[in-house]
Amino acid sequence: MSTQKALGQGRRVCVVGGSGKLGQYMIRHLLDRGYQVVAVCREKSVGKLAGFGDRITVVPGHTDDREVIAKAVAGCDAVLTVLVPWGVKNYSSGTAQAVMDHAQADARLVFSCGWHITRDGKDVYPLSVRAAVRFFAVVGRLARAVDINDQVEACRRIFASNTRWTVVRGSDLEEGESQGLPVWSRHVGDPILRSNRTRRTDFALFMVNAIVDDGLIHEAPAIVGRQTPSALAAAR
Ligand SMILES: NC(=O)c1ccc[n+]([C@@H]2O[C@H](COP(=O)([O-])OP(=O)(O)OC[C@H]3O[C@@H](n4cnc5c(N)ncnc54)[C@H](OP(=O)(O)O)[C@@H]3O)[C@@H](O)[C@H]2O)c1
Repeated sequence: MSTQKALGQGRRVCVVGGSGKLGQYMIRHLLDRGYQVVAVCREKSVGKLAGFGDRITVVPGHTDDREVIAKAVAGCDAVLTVLVPWGVKNYSSGTAQAVMDHAQADARLVFSCGWHITRDGKDVYPLSVRAAVRFFAVVGRLARAVDINDQVEACRRIFASNTRWTVVRGSDLEEGESQGLPVWSRHVGDPILRSNRTRRTDFALFMVNAIVDDGLIHEAPAIVGRQTPSALAAAR
């Protein structure tokens, strides 16, 4: 067995929101590392996971459904949650709360979000990020499609919890070959993050790697691709 495959042997991980782009990348990385995978996704999206066949267990349902989450996270050593602010019915905070309430007490909990989430208010945002957040906050809410404030509330609850959490804050994303594990900083505004670009597969890699990186417990790393100009400049 390869060293990589041995990493996850005998360990079970739940991916909440497994059918999206980030979720599917996470499932691939987990299977490559030998983890047993349970994925939660909406009933209508189960077909998106057909390619994984019987290598994963799928629990259909909304991610804020507490019964669905209780069933899916039972016996899991880690839960990786794609935190999304869809609708105006507290989907993000409901999802985060269900995961925190039902996961095993010692489980590693890793949540995804964007740079716009701040833990301590010390992030310094580029104008482009501020404008995008303002746009989505207003237009999303008016269209009753997105509620960014609820994602903020979800993260507030996570930061206040005594679970073994990490909140991974993604930069703008792009598709493409892996560049390796992203680099990170505690605060947006740090020059290392200036490129504001991460390959989606590497965002997923960071989430999966966080399971075994205890140094990330109670951290909210803002990430950027390790081959981006700002990351390379910081490494010189
Ligand atoms: N996209 C970006 O540029 C960007 C940048 C920074 C951070 N992020 C973070 O990355 C994560 C996901 O990104 P992604 O690009 O991989 O997103 P994605 O592929 O669109 O997946 C998002 C998730 O949302 C679910 N979803 C979509 N519409 C929904 C609805 N109406 N009701 C309930 N659930 C719904 C999807 O489930 P179904 O498969 O069932 O549709 C999927 O699990 C999020 O945490 C986001 O904050 C994204």
